[in-house]
Amino acid sequence: MLQSFNPKNAGIQVFVKDRLYPRHEARVSVFDSSVQGGDAVWEGLRVYHGKIMCLSHHLRRLRESAKALHFSDIPPEEFVRSAIRQTLAANGMTHDTHIRLTLTRGEKVTSGMDPRLNQAGSCLIVLAEWKPVVYDNSSGIRAITGSVLRNSPRFLDSKIHHNNLLNNILAKIQANVAGMDVALMLDERGFAAEFNDTNVCMIRGEKLLTPHAVACLPGITRGLVLDLATRAGLEASEADISLTELYNADAVFATGTMGELTPVVELDGRTIPSQECAAFGRLQAVFREATMQLAEEV
Ligand SMILES: Cc1ncc(COP(=O)(O)O)c(C=O)c1O
Repeated sequence: MLQSFNPKNAGIQVFVKDRLYPRHEARVSVFDSSVQGGDAVWEGLRVYHGKIMCLSHHLRRLRESAKALHFSDIPPEEFVRSAIRQTLAANGMTHDTHIRLTLTRGEKVTSGMDPRLNQAGSCLIVLAEWKPVVYDNSSGIRAITGSVLRNSPRFLDSKIHHNNLLNNILAKIQANVAGMDVALMLDERGFAAEFNDTNVCMIRGEKLLTPHAVACLPGITRGLVLDLATRAGLEASEADISLTELYNADAVFATGTMGELTPVVELDGRTIPSQECAAFGRLQAVFREATMQLAEEV
């Protein structure tokens, strides 16, 4: 599903490092680490009725990703919250809003890979846009399995939510070329890891399964689904899931902040009856109800 430019976002204010800038003036230096090496961490947040879904979980993951990358100055949580508050207030945003929260290692004194060249402090970016959920959760999405693998901790731990997204972008290009919405990415053993932009779950009978967090981001929505499953009458667990199991599932769905719970209706040409799966319908209802309770004040 290709997103398009929303004219409502033409005049938005964006927080960069220490203050707000109009969209056309919001930028980082060519010496910024994100430009030089994708050396940054990020979170995608959604705003519901002026509150942010699972905000403290997202802020913790941002901090832990930055710590794993040995950032020397991680801004205090209150600084990040205040930047988000200022951005939402400046744009009058209380709903239908997606925030791309990025923390780069900052500007370097000269181009190069070495983090010791970063002597200007990290750079926080709060980019809030008017954006409904990205996927159509009623008609569902179609997927192919891509040939690019998701990283295992042997290469680059997928538990770090970093901006080095090229594996995922290559997988997404494969999906685009094939005329599909998303690419399923496998781990190095050939089991499902996640989609290029969301986690993957399946339902078979009364069981809900999702891959172990070995080569996938342990998504916050994925975690919620594991917690909420019992309320929909499902027994949830992590498992090694092969393509054959996904092809024969009652439902396959993607989970993520940007799209919530999205049914997959086709995978590698196999029809998946996700929309007819009553258990998936129950889970979507439980999730919708929970979003109201799990959104937090900034
Ligand atoms: C690769 C990938 N997988 C899964 C997710 C979903 O994570 P969450 O549910 O925390 O939004 C994201 C979100 O950014 C992602 O980039």
